Amino acid sequence: ELPFAESYRIKMVEPIFRSTREQREQWIKEAHYNLFNLKSEQVYIDLLTDSGTGAMSHNQWAAMMTGDESYAGSSSYYNLKNAIRAILGFEYFLPTHQGRAAENVLFSVLVKPGNVVPGNSHFDTTKGHIEFRNASAIDCTIDEAFDTESLHPFKGNIDLEKLESVYSTYQHDEIPMVIVTLTCNTSGGQPVSMQNLKDVSRLSKKYGIKVVFDSARFAENAWFIKERELGYKEKSIREIVAEMFSYADAMTMSSKKDGIVNIGGFIAMKEEELFQNASVFNIMYEGFNTYGGMAGRDMNALSVGLNEVTDEHYLENRVKQVEYLGNRLMEWGIPVQKPIGGHAVFVDARKFLKQVPKEEYIAQTLAIELYLEAGVRGVEVGTLLADRDPKSGENRFPKLEMLRLAIPRRTYTNNHMDVVAVALKNIFDRREKIVHGFRIEKEAPIMRHFTVELERI
Ligand code: F0G
Repeated sequence: ELPFAESYRIKMVEPIFRSTREQREQWIKEAHYNLFNLKSEQVYIDLLTDSGTGAMSHNQWAAMMTGDESYAGSSSYYNLKNAIRAILGFEYFLPTHQGRAAENVLFSVLVKPGNVVPGNSHFDTTKGHIEFRNASAIDCTIDEAFDTESLHPFKGNIDLEKLESVYSTYQHDEIPMVIVTLTCNTSGGQPVSMQNLKDVSRLSKKYGIKVVFDSARFAENAWFIKERELGYKEKSIREIVAEMFSYADAMTMSSKKDGIVNIGGFIAMKEEELFQNASVFNIMYEGFNTYGGMAGRDMNALSVGLNEVTDEHYLENRVKQVEYLGNRLMEWGIPVQKPIGGHAVFVDARKFLKQVPKEEYIAQTLAIELYLEAGVRGVEVGTLLADRDPKSGENRFPKLEMLRLAIPRRTYTNNHMDVVAVALKNIFDRREKIVHGFRIEKEAPIMRHFTVELERI
């Protein structure tokens, strides 16, 4: 059998620079040991996020040129509307400037103080927009998700017993929706099975609760269903995507991921009434309904992106690149969330740096080591991100303390992945010598990880 290779070739390149360890020592110190404070040219391989960092195709760039910038009734809006209807199956949609804006608009209609919103490990902005409205997010992810060694094929799944217990504990009008995140970013880019989507939909219908998908990485989720779930091998990605969304009443989208564009988002829904109610907030917060914070050219590029992301050859290459990096690390016994997810490799920092106390920000310590080693920027998904308990003011120590290596779409080659893998291996070989981490010098009252300043212990 022939090996697989990229389903594209490279037409335009952007130089990146290797720096020296001395330079990086200086830069990270000036950045107060916060990777968000680095300038992009101080980074060699940037795995901070897969959000808005992918490469557009020539067809997307061509579509940019024919964007229609009319305030109202833009043809680019209709191009996007048609793509959303054809691929995702939603009749109504509202453009927004990115995913969290879609959450803001939709939750302005649906979420009231005191409400509870169950889901599978809600993303931070999703949780933020729920808590900001004095409501709470209840995590109903299956327990296997929090055991990095468990090989469960769908670690993004919702535990139906946990969900039903929420449905039966709270009043109907206290639960505006359940949110299913595809794939589940927080648990490691882990997919949700079709069976689980079907079951969540059935249970929610029984209790009269709306099902909303946070769909940032919906196509990667469809790939895993095709690969891992009985009965889907012969189905096309398009058929799988259509079936997935048949179980949702509405969706929010960060187009910066599986839209393969640099900025943008949307809300889509099946009911006209929800569309009408959300329109009011969209016009106030985002823009008139036919652009909602997006340029016409960007809506055009997104409609092409939705077509490209549901192409099997594209997806095979995408998911296999992430798996390639994961496999290299696993060969050396480096502890990672298994199986490898769709958009990122998540390194289990607690198992990697066993000597660093949890109060000294283990995953952040590993992220800084990796930057110093090779100029590779990952991101902490651990105690800094988990923030303090709003009531006690104490640090919250999450179930998993991870270093996320998120891979931008169509951007780096496997040679880059080799650099990342070897850099981590070098650190792994000398892990016993790393015994201390960092203490906080300065932090914001909310979302502290973006601006926190640290000092070495
Ligand atoms: N939902 C999920 C599952 C996400 O991963 C993100 C963003 C959002 C919603 C919010 O979308 O950034 O367009 O406002 N995740 C990025 C990340 C930031 O790095 O994982 P946004």
